[in-house]
Amino acid sequence: MNAKPRVFVTRRIMQEALDFIDQHSDMEVWPDEEPPSPEELRTKVADAEGVLTNIMDRVDAPLLDAGTGMRVVSQLAVGLDNVDVAEATRRGIPVGYTPGVLAKATADVGFALLMSAARRIGESDRWVRDGQWTLAFHPLRWLGVDIHEKTLGIVGLGQIGLEMARRGRGFDMRIIYHSRTRRPEAEAEYGLEYVDLPTLLAEADFVSLHVPLTPETRHYIGEAELRQMKETAVLVNVARGPVVDAAALYKALKEGWIYAAGLDVTDPEPIPADDPLLTLDNVVISPHVGSASLVSRGAMCMLAARNLVAGLEGKPLVRCANPEVYETRSS
Ligand code: DGY
Repeated sequence: MNAKPRVFVTRRIMQEALDFIDQHSDMEVWPDEEPPSPEELRTKVADAEGVLTNIMDRVDAPLLDAGTGMRVVSQLAVGLDNVDVAEATRRGIPVGYTPGVLAKATADVGFALLMSAARRIGESDRWVRDGQWTLAFHPLRWLGVDIHEKTLGIVGLGQIGLEMARRGRGFDMRIIYHSRTRRPEAEAEYGLEYVDLPTLLAEADFVSLHVPLTPETRHYIGEAELRQMKETAVLVNVARGPVVDAAALYKALKEGWIYAAGLDVTDPEPIPADDPLLTLDNVVISPHVGSASLVSRGAMCMLAARNLVAGLEGKPLVRCANPEVYETRSS
């Protein structure tokens, strides 16, 4: 009987997914909470045919050089900014990822942050816990901005952006969007209006970011963009921290160019305890938990496991980020 292929899983994930991988491979799982360092990762993949990674691992040319027998990279995320997909493609290595199973959960968190920032939920929760709620009702305190019937501006209309738009529809919002690709079918189905970025920034009461992090989108929202937003506007980021220039965002929130921000991602991550953003009341931050519901994370883990095993078996991945590797192989 042939020996099972060696695989390395860079963090513990849901047991069901590990069991599935284990049935099909000789699996090693990194046991620690702290992820492996790049050097440790290179050592671990040296004799592996597959690796299951997450956003904390750098999958680059040195790693792929170390894994000389690597036949598949399976990323437990939809975002691939930590993976040099072009390099993997050059080497004919398929890269799996997990779209489709986390869009709704991530949009749920996006909308929760939007609402928390608009209606000051994080700030008022801290105030209550601080023992400051001494008068049952005050006509002039804790006033926030409305959500219903306002304008939601979606930047990047992928699966998560579209889910965000659907949630906005439930609040009778006008929905405008800006995206690399225009989506007439979504415009018709959800009544979305396509606009250019300056129009979106000027007209939206809520600007919600859903673009991948690439060299082009790093600091996509900087001082110039923040200054184009309404003073009453809320910025929501459930994409990647560096899409927003954090120093400019701090100034915008501190000096009142915009009303508030709701962030599930920061730059850097984790956000340091002494980061100036944490001194502000008009920002609510969750620790990159967009996809962290039991069901969605379970589905992500299983999809990543299936991608990994398909790659080991030389089959097309269930969700492949670089399907062109198959064309290269057959030509
Ligand atoms: C993703 O999938 O890219 C998230 O950021 C991690 O779940």
